[in-house]
Amino acid sequence: MTRETWKTRAGFILAAVGSAVGLGNIWRFPWMTANNGGSAFLLLYLGIVLLVGVPGLLGAFVIGRRSQRNPVGALRDLSGGSRLWGAFGLFAVATTLLLVSFYSVVGGWFVRYTAASATASYFGQSGAYFSAISHGPGALAFGFAFLAASAAIVYGGVEKGIERATKLMMPAIVLLLVALTAWTFTRPGALDGAAFLLSPDVAYLRANALDILPAAVGQALFTLSLGTGTMITYASYLGEERSLPSDATTIAVLNTGVGVLAGLLVFPLLFSFGLDVGSGGPGAIFVSVASAFASLGVFGRVLGVAFFGVVLLAALSSAISMLEIPVAYLVDEHDVPRSRATVGVAGLVAVGTAACALDASVFGLLANTLVNLLMTAGLAGFLLFVGWVLGRRALAEYEAGAGEFARSLGTPWLLFVGVLIPIFLLFTLITGLLPVLGVSVTELDVMGVRVASSTLSLVGAVVVTLLAVAGLRRPDSML
Ligand code: ALA
Repeated sequence: MTRETWKTRAGFILAAVGSAVGLGNIWRFPWMTANNGGSAFLLLYLGIVLLVGVPGLLGAFVIGRRSQRNPVGALRDLSGGSRLWGAFGLFAVATTLLLVSFYSVVGGWFVRYTAASATASYFGQSGAYFSAISHGPGALAFGFAFLAASAAIVYGGVEKGIERATKLMMPAIVLLLVALTAWTFTRPGALDGAAFLLSPDVAYLRANALDILPAAVGQALFTLSLGTGTMITYASYLGEERSLPSDATTIAVLNTGVGVLAGLLVFPLLFSFGLDVGSGGPGAIFVSVASAFASLGVFGRVLGVAFFGVVLLAALSSAISMLEIPVAYLVDEHDVPRSRATVGVAGLVAVGTAACALDASVFGLLANTLVNLLMTAGLAGFLLFVGWVLGRRALAEYEAGAGEFARSLGTPWLLFVGVLIPIFLLFTLITGLLPVLGVSVTELDVMGVRVASSTLSLVGAVVVTLLAVAGLRRPDSML
């Protein structure tokens, strides 16, 4: 069977931006920002997008285009048939299945709010409305509807389903967001909201950087769809003539632009209505934004449909990219026809969606802690693979189709993804795991000397990275 490909460069870019721009930018971002110190969080997050996101995205593209395979086949084939790397690919596929499970529940909330805006169902009771619909049989039904719509697009295939749908959705998303943001800025008080988001609170950042680091890394990876194999899979449908560095930069810039645009819609909107930016929590945006629309009567209905509708489109274009990973795995590795693979994957995800829709604690565990940790571990593994298993082959793939300037950055890039970023990600992983394991010490006694636990985490991250490098190094590794 001939493997599918993107028809046009714009098609690939829009699909990848469609994957990146999603609930992460609009629903998860205000929740994480409000929970983690406002603009301080934004600053850290933007730094991570630039220094980890862009090189990491390139790493995923290199694996995908080189192998022309899903993450499992890619890691196994490029490592010369290693079962262990194949298993790591499966770990990424499993992470995606978990991710899209809770994602479908949130997608279902947006389906419901789009409809409820038209009928003004939540007007006058925005807090109670969210509590009533967020979990339970209704959430299950709407989550399933969202999942079915995403699966229908994936069922259509790479070019006829995903490329065609995202080419229509992305311009619509940007146009609607710009129009809504422009309207928000006509309201009094909106500028205070923009200032809240854009004036960096460096003092807070300095005092709390370590506490908010795991969430900022998780959010940066979540929004760029990194660490799960999504971007590996999308790049596997690419031809050699594209410049990967320029595509990765374009995608990261567009995603960040839409993210900041969404922030410039949500925060000014809340400020202009005198609403609390939220004490955080997954319902923050629903309760607050819905109260704003509810106070505007009929006009609020129109705005509500536009706002929740635009997020719904963004969520769909991301959900399809996640569903595509297990589907590509079944098609590539087990010769399952795309149609059957899609139905099977949707059925499996439906089980996870049901668990998240019916139980708020399962939902919270997946959507926050677990996803942050799993994606961080996933990206660390992928990048160690790029640096030390692919080595010079990664560099050759990076350079194919790239311009002169990008080529001159090839070797520093490889060292960055092979050493520095894995150390950083493993440090983040350890820092994020400690509270989950109930360890909350800030200092430890090491042979009579008091050492900050963060120093020990850093030492641990360096040691694990060096051990991994020693174990993975091959004749064609860079160093
Ligand atoms: N990248 C996707 C999002 O931000 C998962 O929603």
